[in-house]
Amino acid sequence: MSDEILSLIYTFSKKFSDPETNLTFDPKNQNISAIVKEGNVNISLLVKGQKEDSYINIARLLKNNVEQISGVLSVNVIINSDRNKTNISDEKRFKIDAKNIVAIASGKGGVGKSTFSVNLATALSSLDLKVGLLDADIYGPSVPRMMGISQKPIMNENKKLIPLENYGIKLMSIGFILDSEAPTIWRGPMVMKALEQMFNGVEWGQIDYLIIDLPPGTGDAQLTLAQSSKLSGSIVISTPQDVALTDARKGINMFKKVNVDILGIVENMSYFICDNCNQKHYIFSKDGVKKEAEEFKIPFLGEIPIDTNLRIQSDNGIPALIDNPDGEISKKFISIAKNLKKSLN
Ligand SMILES: Nc1ncnc2c1ncn2[C@@H]1O[C@H](COP(=O)(O)OP(=O)(O)OP(=O)(O)O)[C@@H](O)[C@H]1O
Ligand SMILES: [Mg+2]
Repeated sequence: MSDEILSLIYTFSKKFSDPETNLTFDPKNQNISAIVKEGNVNISLLVKGQKEDSYINIARLLKNNVEQISGVLSVNVIINSDRNKTNISDEKRFKIDAKNIVAIASGKGGVGKSTFSVNLATALSSLDLKVGLLDADIYGPSVPRMMGISQKPIMNENKKLIPLENYGIKLMSIGFILDSEAPTIWRGPMVMKALEQMFNGVEWGQIDYLIIDLPPGTGDAQLTLAQSSKLSGSIVISTPQDVALTDARKGINMFKKVNVDILGIVENMSYFICDNCNQKHYIFSKDGVKKEAEEFKIPFLGEIPIDTNLRIQSDNGIPALIDNPDGEISKKFISIAKNLKKSLN
C-alpha cells in the first residue's frame, strides 16, 4: 500500500522541476525524498535557498495533489533550504554525556531501522558497554514495543525525564512527549525542541553509546540531529531492492552534505533461508548494497537475512540477543557491534 502511494506521489512530483537546477523531481532526484508511514506522507525538498516563492508554490501544489490519493491521511511538505545550514557553535549543541552517538538512518521506510537499532543496542550492551537508545521517529515510534516497554517515563526532582530501562538499556522515545494526534504536521522548530528535550531534558547519566533510531528519510529531524548533536557518525540501513537503494543514496548524500561520517551501510532482508532446502534465497537481488558501499567508498557492515523469528521477537518485545543469544542472527549483530566499537576507538 505504502509503495503504491509512493509511486503515485512521484507521478505528481515528476511534473515539476527544480527552479534552480531544472532537474525534475523524480525518484532519482537527490533533492526530493518522500516517506509514507501508515497513510501519513512526509515529503522533503532540499533546495538551494534562492527562488523561495517558486519552491513554496511547488510544495503547495504537491500537497494538494497528494492529499487526493486514496489511503492518504495527512501530507506534510518540508522545504529544507541549505541557506539556513550554518554551523552551530559548540555551546548551542545538545548536551549528553555519551562517548559515542550513532544515528541509524535509512532513505526508505520499513527497511528495518528500528529492528537494527534495538539489536545493535543489545549487542553493544552484551559487550559490557553502557548503552542508551533514543527513538527519534516522529512519524510513529516503535522502539518501546520492540524493547518490551509499555510504561511512560517520569520526571525526577530536577525536572528531567528518567529513561525507562529494560535488558540493561536506557530508553527514551520522542513518542512519549509528542502529541500522537498530529505527528506529521511538525515543523522544524517543533522537531528541534523535541529533540533538544531528548538530549538535554533526559537524565541519561554517563553512557558509552547512544544509539538513535531516526525517522525514515531526509527531513527536518535528521538535519536537526546531524547539526545539533555531536554525532560520531551514522549507519545507513537498506534492503537490496532498487527503490530502497535509490533512497539510501539520498540518505548518504544528506549526511555528506552536513559533514556527518558514515560509519557504514547494512543490508537487511538480504536473503531467506528456506526451512525445507536450507538454501539461501536472494529474493530481491544479491550484493546490491555491498556494491553501493564500494561505489561510495563506505564500509559494508554486513547482511542480515529475512528471519521469521526476528520479526516475532520484535513483536514480542524481546530482542534476538536476549531471546536467543547464541543464534546466527545474534552472532551477526555482535560482530557488527564489535566492528563498530573498533572503528570508533
Ligand atoms: N531481517 C528481518 N527479517 C524479518 N523481519 C524483519 C527483518 N527486519 C525487520 N523486520 C520486520 O519488518 C518490519 C519493519 O521493520 P522496522 O520497524 O524495524 O523497520 P523501520 O525501518 O524502522 O520502519 P519505519 O521506517 O516504519 O520506522 C517489522 O515488522 C520488523 O519486525
Ligand atoms: Mg522504525
